[in-house]
Amino acid sequence: MPLIELRHVNKVFGSAAAPIYAMRDVSLTVAAGETFGIIGSSGAGKSTLVRCLNRLETPTSGEVIIDGENIAALNQAELRRARRNLGMIFQHFNLLVSHTALDNVALPLVLAGASKKEARARAAAMLELVGLPDRAAAYPAQLSGGQKQRVGIARALATKPKILLSDEATNALDPETSRHILALIKNLQKQLNLTVVLITHEMNVVAEICDRVAVMENGEVIESGTMFDVFTQPRRALTKNFVEMVLRRDDDIDDYRPQGQMVRVFFRGKNAEDSLLAEIVHRFNVKVNLRQAFITHLQNLGCGTALIDLTGEPAARAQAVAYLRDCGQIVEEV
Ligand SMILES: Nc1ncnc2c1ncn2[C@@H]1O[C@H](COP(=O)(O)OP(=O)(O)O)[C@@H](O)[C@H]1O
Ligand SMILES: [Mg+2]
Repeated sequence: MPLIELRHVNKVFGSAAAPIYAMRDVSLTVAAGETFGIIGSSGAGKSTLVRCLNRLETPTSGEVIIDGENIAALNQAELRRARRNLGMIFQHFNLLVSHTALDNVALPLVLAGASKKEARARAAAMLELVGLPDRAAAYPAQLSGGQKQRVGIARALATKPKILLSDEATNALDPETSRHILALIKNLQKQLNLTVVLITHEMNVVAEICDRVAVMENGEVIESGTMFDVFTQPRRALTKNFVEMVLRRDDDIDDYRPQGQMVRVFFRGKNAEDSLLAEIVHRFNVKVNLRQAFITHLQNLGCGTALIDLTGEPAARAQAVAYLRDCGQIVEEV
């Protein structure tokens, strides 16, 4: 059973005369222990989606099921209990400026009924967990952006939730701090066996830590799959644009006249590129002229794209292309 399931969720804001469809028939599942990314441009409905998970928004229709419970059907007391299972972090950290780091982290525990002493002890342990043991007495204004987000993470995880929701949590941070925060989220996910739902419009964030990803546009999920599949075989134009932030596939080949047939290959697997291109030359009567190649790693998997000019008899070229496909590579005839 998935830990999180959305079934045909719609969310409409505005009036009947001027409706704003923030979510349209969104269905998706997130398994326990998974890091699930939601990407999309501004206004796509990403925040509305996560806010429906902890019922900061109530869907107009459809069901949101978390750990077997329909969130929309809970009364206030049940909702308070269910929310302890969902920690959330935000782009602007949302810390209370008049509270120290320690008290910010202790607050959700106090609200959940812990004594002040218990809450502070646990908050101190949480600050240690996020790498800020010596900043407990600092106020938010005395902390850097990265430190504030660490406090935000400690607060989100203080009640031992199973699920961490992250809404553009690394947006306001510089790239290096952003990487540290992502690494922290990834470590905590493993250490605490968290399920993470992470919203971002930055593909490198997805590439670094997500197992699966959904792409939203105009309130709809237009594409979803494993991170690796979405990156290496994006189907929709928007997804391709996003993927290109990480996996370049420049098409500046206008001034180049191929001698044979231009083929773009998306390679998956370590060194697939080198060995497979050598192999088709060896096996079939074709020549390969490499026009562009871009290799990278997505988490631990090698992948890349290559634009090649394939020359030879049409039958030989067709065999070579078929062979690449048989080897599990994605081939586009340009
Ligand atoms: N409380 C609200 N009232 C009216 N419209 C809203 C509200 N929240 C979000 N929207 C609208 O819903 C759409 C999706 O917003 P949002 O979920 O914030 O997108 P994203 O997080 O992907 O940028 C946008 O058109 C936004 O203006
Ligand atoms: Mg948003």
